[in-house]
Amino acid sequence: MHYSVCVLGATGMVGQKFVQLLENHPWFEVKSLAASERRIGKKYGSEVEWLISANLPEYARDIEMVPLDPKYVDADIVFSALPADIAKEVEPKFAEAGFAVSSNASAFRMEEDVPLVIPEVNADHLRLIEVQKRRRNWDGFIITNPNCTTTMFVITLKPLMDLGLKSVRIASMQALSGAGYPGVPSLAITDNVIPFIKNEEEKCETEPLKILGTLKGDRVELAKLKISASCHRVPVIDGHTEAVWVEFDRDVSVEEVKDAFNSLKPLELPSSPEKVIVIRNEPDRPQPRLDRDTGRGMSVVVGRIRKDAWGIKYIVLGHNTVRGAAGASILNAELLVKEKML
Ligand SMILES: NC(=O)c1ccc[n+]([C@@H]2O[C@H](COP(=O)([O-])OP(=O)(O)OC[C@H]3O[C@@H](n4cnc5c(N)ncnc54)[C@H](OP(=O)(O)O)[C@@H]3O)[C@@H](O)[C@H]2O)c1
Repeated sequence: MHYSVCVLGATGMVGQKFVQLLENHPWFEVKSLAASERRIGKKYGSEVEWLISANLPEYARDIEMVPLDPKYVDADIVFSALPADIAKEVEPKFAEAGFAVSSNASAFRMEEDVPLVIPEVNADHLRLIEVQKRRRNWDGFIITNPNCTTTMFVITLKPLMDLGLKSVRIASMQALSGAGYPGVPSLAITDNVIPFIKNEEEKCETEPLKILGTLKGDRVELAKLKISASCHRVPVIDGHTEAVWVEFDRDVSVEEVKDAFNSLKPLELPSSPEKVIVIRNEPDRPQPRLDRDTGRGMSVVVGRIRKDAWGIKYIVLGHNTVRGAAGASILNAELLVKEKML
């Protein structure tokens, strides 16, 4: 199995994570990289302020950057890490031209015929691809992964649905890398917490309903859940931490919740972690610095599962640019390969 890939928005925070995660990927090989117009014709290595790790992967250094135009892209799969407004214009051009677009951007996530997928949660929603191609008369298609904050807690909600989940409240403590580069000014965030992230709460309250919804014919029937989110930026580099309160339609014990979390199985894909939800029993875990790289950043880590007056509460943490962004798109593309949808 061998597929050539292109990364759109390759110089950004998520784009760089794609370039890093795709190094030595068993199925995917990066052939083209694209970003804004000022990069065209320049070598990736000279254009990127390398933030993710000390070393820029050697394979990417001399790749000449191309325009955001299907004519110049040599790839079977296009990974998009573009800002939503640019993605809105560019992604359909690639889909129309026959590319499989696996996108991080929010532009198409909530469109009725676009799959919004976490492979371990709703792989069956990939069937919307056929609907999309038919309706839009495209040779290719767009598939999306959720917002990084949504991803972490939705993975934990999936196994709780069968216990009679009724309502969810979350409070996020979100890392700086979630704001892209250069992101939040250092003088605004050092020694501080900012209790507002534009459009984030809306995404956390709507995307889960689609992901946890049921595919009925050509559309997804939204899950009947009440969700309330409060989102906050904190001075952490990587790793979103979320406090979650869940309410059920019956009395549910901590043990039942732990068993449910342990029941969510990984898929057999190259980027799958060994365990999707890792439970830590220490009283002061999970913590971003200690736990964000669990399962190469593809697991979510849960701790402090306890009862309260309404039901159960716990903390979940995940790596926002891996499980919440680039790793999520790559896992979706791997699922497409496994399901023979490319
Ligand atoms: N950061 C996260 O944890 C995270 C998580 C989930 C989803 N996302 C989503 O992923 C996308 C990328 O986020 P990010 O954090 O990586 O942002 P970022 O660091 O600001 O990077 C944006 C990328 O898009 C390119 N770009 C910006 N304006 C452009 C234009 N007018 N034309 C063409 N290219 C343009 C930039 O290229 P230049 O360098 O050439 O300007 C850069 O490569 C966004 O839609 C974001 O909402 C991010």
